[in-house]
Amino acid sequence: IKTIGVFTSGGDSPGMNAAIRSIVRTALYYNLNVVGITRGYEGMIAGEFIPMSRKSVANIIQRGGTILKTARSEAFKTEEGRRTAYEQIKKQNIDALVAIGGEGTFTGANAFIREFNIPVVGLPGTIDNDLIGTDFTIGYDTAINTVIDAVDKIRDTAESHDRLFIVEVMGRDSGLIALRSGIGVGAEAILIPESKTNIDELFKRLEEGRKDKSSKIIIVAEGDEIGGLEIAQMIKERFPKYDTRLSILGHIQRGGKPSCMDRVLASRLGIAAVEALLNGRKGIMVGLVNNNVHYTPFYNAIKHLSEADPNLLKIVNILSL
Ligand code: F6P
Repeated sequence: IKTIGVFTSGGDSPGMNAAIRSIVRTALYYNLNVVGITRGYEGMIAGEFIPMSRKSVANIIQRGGTILKTARSEAFKTEEGRRTAYEQIKKQNIDALVAIGGEGTFTGANAFIREFNIPVVGLPGTIDNDLIGTDFTIGYDTAINTVIDAVDKIRDTAESHDRLFIVEVMGRDSGLIALRSGIGVGAEAILIPESKTNIDELFKRLEEGRKDKSSKIIIVAEGDEIGGLEIAQMIKERFPKYDTRLSILGHIQRGGKPSCMDRVLASRLGIAAVEALLNGRKGIMVGLVNNNVHYTPFYNAIKHLSEADPNLLKIVNILSL
């Protein structure tokens, strides 16, 4: 391997820049050339390449988003799109790729490897933490801290007005942002797709829970089968005396300065990804499990977790209300 290409793809996440910096500097450390590909697979198809140097990644470790920009590519889902992308990277003499992204990114990478035998190694870059083979994805820690900051503020209003707030958080079809941030804010209930909500039970808890508690916060994952809007309506009907509000946090969760945890994770995984390529590995995501670098084939990394961590669920059961 002489030249590696690096790109970010799918939803941006805080810490992607720290990952780019780590990949570029590790590659240079091992005397490789590095080319940045902008806008993920879209840019690869369109031939958007920029040479990367130590300097081009200076002063980015603290920045949210991704300097390489990102996109969700429909064209790369087609064989023709992937062929064009391959021709473009060959023109640049790129012989291996590091892909920073999530499920869609790794699905695309798998097809690319199968068809053109190009080595690709992945880094888990998504706020959702929904990949198998890493305890945490790059961006998750920052996102849950953004959520708890926002909900702490909402709690001030909830407390002052004796209100019940339903807060919907991101996670596509995963409840991991909801579960951990919900514990962090001391939510009265957490609704996630991994565990079916028993509505009667929830209503009972809201009714019989601590009577002296004036504010109530319910965290709902966007992928939950009920969803924020619907649960808000159900609660309003069932408890007309509660002053109920719905707040959907949205893309605030994707932005901002990465936390120290995310910067260190991204730095560590970036080094591991380049070293994995140099060791002849491909088709794998590099993650951290129990604080050790761990390699997971893309096809396993993208499998869905159908159950939430029982240790976290136990905390919710014992400590909420
Ligand atoms: O995967 C990250 C994520 O923020 C999900 O939590 C959310 O469902 C989705 O991306 C939103 O995507 P978009 O920004 O394309 O609307």
